[in-house]
Amino acid sequence: MAGVDRQTCDGFDRQDPLARFRDEFVIPEGLIYLDGNSLGALPRATGPRLQRVIAEEWGSGLIRSWNAAHWIDAPRRVGDKIARLIGAQPGEVIVADSTSVDLFKLLAGALRLQSGRHFILTEAQNFPTDLYVAEGLVDLLGGRHALRVVDRAELVAAVDSSVAVLMLTHVDYGSGLIHDMAALTAAAHAHGALMLWDLSHSAGAVPVDLTGHQVDLAVGCGYKYLNGGPGAPAYAFIRRSLQDAVPSPLSGWMGHAAPFDFEGHYRPAPGIVRQLAGTPPILSLAALEVAVDLWLRVDQEEVRRKSMALGDLFIRLVDERCRGLGLEVASPRERQRRGSQVSLRHRDGYRVMRALIDRGVIGDFRTPDLMRFGLTPLYSRYVDVWDAVDALREVLASGAFERPEYGTRLAVT
Ligand SMILES: Cc1ncc(COP(=O)(O)O)c(C=O)c1O
Repeated sequence: MAGVDRQTCDGFDRQDPLARFRDEFVIPEGLIYLDGNSLGALPRATGPRLQRVIAEEWGSGLIRSWNAAHWIDAPRRVGDKIARLIGAQPGEVIVADSTSVDLFKLLAGALRLQSGRHFILTEAQNFPTDLYVAEGLVDLLGGRHALRVVDRAELVAAVDSSVAVLMLTHVDYGSGLIHDMAALTAAAHAHGALMLWDLSHSAGAVPVDLTGHQVDLAVGCGYKYLNGGPGAPAYAFIRRSLQDAVPSPLSGWMGHAAPFDFEGHYRPAPGIVRQLAGTPPILSLAALEVAVDLWLRVDQEEVRRKSMALGDLFIRLVDERCRGLGLEVASPRERQRRGSQVSLRHRDGYRVMRALIDRGVIGDFRTPDLMRFGLTPLYSRYVDVWDAVDALREVLASGAFERPEYGTRLAVT
């Protein structure tokens, strides 16, 4: 990649086999959107589909649409589609609730299944909600279980026969580091522990093979790389052979074996359906399904190739063009170990990101000093990477980030 300039990047875009997908998204003119790892862009097909669901299925069909428009099947139907993106089998994935709630359900089920084992094991670098949910669960269980949080380097050594479940996020939300799914799942299994992966930064970003790695449990977000929309429902995976042994702690009617028999006692549905609790959010599910249908037309290997190339380009341009400006690359430089983001440290990272956003380059900030740039191969271009690093250089070299208003933290960073 000798002598990369903007024209070279433009050339990469012309040869990009995924370039045609950009038109399938709403990308505001002049905006460089590098935050699809936080909130994916809006597919063009979503608005018209939601309008039809609202006008025809809800407006005209009303309650009949639960049957006639197959609303009642949506959590399983969309789950089966997501299964194809994460190497799972039909009937192993259900769409429901948020990632946090799904984590709670699967962890609680795992602890019930693994009676006699006391620990949920995880790493200190895990996403905070994963830690908080596990903390809340062990607290609720009144001292019979505990959360053991170790440093990343100590994970494998910390797995032993007291561990009920090893819970990790596959792609680190901060640095983008990809965990070795095969090795860590095997390490958990070697000691009889279950393996639970949070795939929030994986699906739609890096290939995942849950069946191939014999993963037991997984959860993931619908609103990031999958483009399901703000607050889109999440998904939960349970390996088929475990499904009837993993109870849900939220024993709601939608997870009952016969919800419309209105029995007086809970009887769990067979399979993954028991992980449902309440009525599914049909409008949100419809939006997620549009995005997942788009994903099913995409070659995942092509996505991964472009994602690695965009990341390499980003890092190379930062090295070449931002030298001496106080940046440090926080993501793995080795492309195989890096998910679909590049994170940079800067002492004034929050201010720098605010100045970039004012210039139409949208990434985000994670405390204390991390700027994250998500690379979404379906709509990110090589010229976007060039322009983003160019803006970054200008913001740093000019000192524009030092303007006082950039020091005030907004509620969402
Ligand atoms: C790794 C990871 N897990 C879980 C979540 C939160 O998921 P939810 O908001 O669906 O509970 C996030 C959100 O950024 C995340 O990055």
